[in-house]
Amino acid sequence: METLVVDHPLVAHKLTALRDVRTDSPAFRRLADELVTLLAYEATRDVRITHVTVETPVSPAQGVRLARPAPLVVPILRAGLGMLEGMTRLLSTAEVGFLGMIRDEGTLTAQTYATRLPESLAGRQCYVLDPMLATGGTLTAAIELLFERGAADVTAICLLAAPEGLARVKNAFAGTGRPVRVVTAAVDDRLDVKGYIVPGLGDAGDRLYG
Ligand code: PRP
Repeated sequence: METLVVDHPLVAHKLTALRDVRTDSPAFRRLADELVTLLAYEATRDVRITHVTVETPVSPAQGVRLARPAPLVVPILRAGLGMLEGMTRLLSTAEVGFLGMIRDEGTLTAQTYATRLPESLAGRQCYVLDPMLATGGTLTAAIELLFERGAADVTAICLLAAPEGLARVKNAFAGTGRPVRVVTAAVDDRLDVKGYIVPGLGDAGDRLYG
């Protein structure tokens, strides 16, 4: 598994504002939207392209366009929905699938309550959106499901990650030959006893949607 921590002053600035407990829901939604667009720029560096020729007003020009089949973007409900628009703004030809998952706050295990994905993902590049990678249970289950349906590779975009979660995802796919990348704005210190990222930003779903 490859991990990319996007080191950029604008990313750090927006993440700092997201962390701030005084940031209210409208500002949190706007910042999450802006931040995912910056992360998506890096996360899509390997998106497949096709070489094409277009006519400029002056002459033919060589260029590229996004290849078919289109990438699939998969926000994990609920908090991942707050990242969808920022992602599709950049990747306008992408299709969108949905996964509803919730972490049991007692056992910290992930339950899947909704799946709306194409039946076959054969050969598709997939981009999973989830603001928080904490224990990694949710993301591991989501990525497994996408590979079971034939995804070619999976890139997860997380606003924040904990070292424990990154290690879990890495171990889950090590030696499987399945390409997994995690792109994040920061790797924080640790998880607390409740499975919250420290220092983190609190509960992203609650801060986005109340
Ligand atoms: C949060 C978060 C991730 C998950 C991370 O969602 O958005 O999906 O927990 O935890 P994990 O890495 O330990 O599995 P939550 O279950 O709170 O649901 P919500 O998005 O509906 O608020």
